[in-house]
Formats: sequence, C-alpha cells, structure tokens
Amino acid sequence: MTTKTVAQLLSKDNTLQDVTVKGWVRTFRANRFIALNDGSTINNIQCVVDFENFDEALLKRITTGAAIHVAGELVESQGKGQSVEIQVKELEILGDSDPETYPIQPKKHTFEFLRENAHLRTRTNTFSAVMRLRSSLSFAIHKYFTENGFYNMHTPIITGSDAEGAGEMFRVSTLDAKNPPLNEDGTVNYKEDFFGKETNLTVSGQLEAETYAMSLGKVYTFGPTFRAENSNTSRHLAEFWMIEPEVAFMDLAGNMDLAEDFLKSVLGYALENNKEDLEFLDKRLQDAEKSLPEAERSPMNLIDKIKFVVDNNFKRVSYTEAIDILRNCKPNKKKKFKYLIEEWGADLQSEHERYLVEKHFKCPVILFDYPANIKAFYMRLNEDGKTVRAMDILFPGIGEMVGGSQREERLEVLKEKMKALDIPEEELWWYLDLRKYGTAVHSGFGLGFERLVMFTTGMGNIRDVIPYPRTPQNAEF
Ligand code: 4AD
Ligand code: MG
Repeated sequence: MTTKTVAQLLSKDNTLQDVTVKGWVRTFRANRFIALNDGSTINNIQCVVDFENFDEALLKRITTGAAIHVAGELVESQGKGQSVEIQVKELEILGDSDPETYPIQPKKHTFEFLRENAHLRTRTNTFSAVMRLRSSLSFAIHKYFTENGFYNMHTPIITGSDAEGAGEMFRVSTLDAKNPPLNEDGTVNYKEDFFGKETNLTVSGQLEAETYAMSLGKVYTFGPTFRAENSNTSRHLAEFWMIEPEVAFMDLAGNMDLAEDFLKSVLGYALENNKEDLEFLDKRLQDAEKSLPEAERSPMNLIDKIKFVVDNNFKRVSYTEAIDILRNCKPNKKKKFKYLIEEWGADLQSEHERYLVEKHFKCPVILFDYPANIKAFYMRLNEDGKTVRAMDILFPGIGEMVGGSQREERLEVLKEKMKALDIPEEELWWYLDLRKYGTAVHSGFGLGFERLVMFTTGMGNIRDVIPYPRTPQNAEF
C-alpha cells in the first residue's frame, strides 16, 4: 500500500482501495470527520473516524494544524461535498499542534495577520492556491521559452553596473561599515573592497542578456532582482523576480508580438492546469468584493478576466496618442488626477496607466515610442530624435506589467547618450564592444513575475504573491 497524495486520491482515475495518506488537519468535526490537506490540491480529503475504535487520548490530539498519517479504505462518500472519503482504520499523530496557540484557526484571517505569519500562511486555501499558481506560472514560462528556441541564461546577481541608471541599488560590500578605508579626498576606497570595486545587487539582467543574445540568438533570464526604491506600494517589492528575454535581429514590433504571445501562452497554461485553484480564487474575490460599493467591484470576474486577455488582441498605442487621450479625458479636465497631464513629455503615473487600461481601452495596452528623456539610456533612438523604441505593457488592475525596448545598436549614438547621462564608458566597455563587433538590431523586455502572479490570482497586494516579501523596513523570515 503506497502513500498517495490527496490530489491522487480525489482524482477521477483513482480506484477504490486501501490507501494511506499524510497531511495536516484542517478541521475535526463532531469527533468524527477529519478534513485533511497535504498541499497537493485545494481540496481536503475527508477521513471518517469511528470514535469507538480509537483511544480518547489519541482523538484529543487530532487538532487543527497537527500532522497525521491515516490508513484506511477509500470509499464512495455518504455525505455531500465530496465524492470519496477514507474510512479510517489506523491513525498516527506525526506532529501535535497546540490548538490554543496555533495561529491558523479555521476561520477568516486578515491578509495582514497572515503576512505576519507568512511561515504558516500556506496552510490556508488562499495562500496555497496562490503559491501553486506561482509555481505553475514559473514552469509555464520556462516551457514557453524552451519550446520557442530560447536558451535559459543565469545572469549575475552581484554586478558593477547600474543597468537601469536609476541608482536604486543595494550595495554589496565586506568593508567595515564603521571604519571603511578612505581615499585622500575622504571618499570610500572600494579598491580595498571584496571585488576591488563598488558592487551592487542587480536591478536587471538585461545588459548581460544582451551579450548572450548577440551570440546565442534567443535567450532569457529569470532571476531575483533588487531595487532599493523607497516606494511602499501594493505593487513594489525590494526583491522581486524578473523574466527577461533578449533576441537578436528582432525589432520593437517583433518584441511586442513576442511579449503578447508569451503572456497569452502562460496565462492559457494556468487556465488549463490550475482550474480548481483559479475557481477557488475567483470565488474568494467575488465574496470579498460583495462588501464593496458597486462602482469599486471588478467589472469581470477573475477567470473571465484571464480568458479575456488570452482571447483578445492587446491594443497598441503610441505615447503621443496616449498623451492626447489623457490630456482630454475627464479626470484630467476635472483635475481628478494627482498629476495633471499638461504637455507632451510628461512621465506617466500609475493613475494615468490605469485610466488608459481600465476606463478608456478596457483591455491590455502596449504603449510605445516614449520620450527619450524619461527612459533608460540603452533604448533605440527614433528618427525623430526625441522618442525611443520603448514599450510598456499595461494590465487592468496592475498597471505596468512589462517594460521593454529595441536596444540602441549604433556605437556612436550609444556613446553620445552615455556621455549625456554621465555613464562612464570604462564601466560598460564590454557593452559597447557588442556595438563594435557584429552589432545588429536586437530587443527584449522584462516582466515582473509577481505582477503576473497578482493578475492571475486576483490578489491585490504584491506582498501576498511572494513567499517572503522584502519591502522597506521589512525583511522578516
Ligand atoms: O520596466 P523595468 O524597470 O525594465 C527593466 O528592468 C528592463 N531592463 C527590462 C528589459 O528590457 N529587459 O522593469 C521590468 C518590469 C516592470 O514592468 C514591472 O513589471 C517589474 O519589472 N518591476 C517590479 N516588480 C515588483 N517590484 C518592483 N519594485 C518592480 N520594478 C519593476
Ligand atoms: Mg518600467
């Protein structure tokens, strides 16, 4: 008799027979019905205990949170709510749980409370469903790229360059913080540091990915990314995971096609392979929204929203068109936006992005050809001399999901740009080399993995879609 997972026991192809299973007690009702969960599915298996056959002392130890091992016969269920159940013949407590102090009681907990107990929150339906989806999406991403001829590349986590030029980096150093070696001018002498130079945690693997795209053709990196932005929002983390494909000989239009096809494919994978978790999360969201005023509720339920994205074309709109729409829209005219859109060149805030996606177009939007001076140094300058071949993909409820661009492949133009932004050539000599030896059009993008998980699960706070969130003033666990 082999131990099976609850998912296997509940599967339609399973035969009725003697089984054993291990898991954690969710509830124990009427001294008779154990709801057992082992993480393999959102569903519990009902284990029916005939209390006359078991010691009173043993029954007392079947408490919420306890780990147990059950052996018995899998039979068709007499009761409602499940197709099969286990008639328990043997029961062993593997690990007791103190019902007085166990934080995950069988009742509703707030997400704030569960964040404080993040080590146990995956014992709840919501968080186990979210994390199973996270795992599934991660697999779907690797599957998509592998099947489409991309090589997976591991870009460095410690780097000496600031890829995004935004300066929001975490320093990596082994110098004595209290007494660092100094240069004559009083600045810290990083030559004496571990790497002999100033180093940071990476904000993007893009620049290194470009080097491999220019030899292996199609590559992607999927790794941890660090940003010391002090933005305590529901969509920012200090440590997040980013997927960055990079493709040689591909222009911005190809980049948009790739990103759209990729997003549809991974969302389609989740729809097909995570039905039960999605149905659970869909219902959770509908229940949660019942208490909201009509106007604040989502216009579509979760699964329909995902299907809508999979089945419809993303709207492609230039920055210039977007500015026209925003300048003339109601919230701008009535001064409802916090940042009013007055002229071309304004950076778009999330309120503007969300207006475009949720109110105006009502579908995912790809904005492209942004003003050069609000975007990173490496983006391909357009013939107009003022816009760059950048694209952002905006999603309903999320805002920016993807940021990408065609890269500046012309050595002289790139050097000019770096000079204007005070980026020393010595720092990026290898990046410039790509433009000296066999340069070519190439493009790529970055997808924030947690934002994708937020969209897919309907969770409203990015802290609830990563196991242990790192945010300003918080690095518990
Ligand atoms: O737009 P970003 O900054 O683009 C880059 O880093 C490029 N180097 C990508 C590339 O072209 N290879 O970041 C890409 C995406 C954003 O669209 C967003 O989804 C996510 O990464 N992101 C964050 N997610 C969570 N927390 C943060 N602090 C994030 N910052 C960016
Ligand atoms: Mg961006």
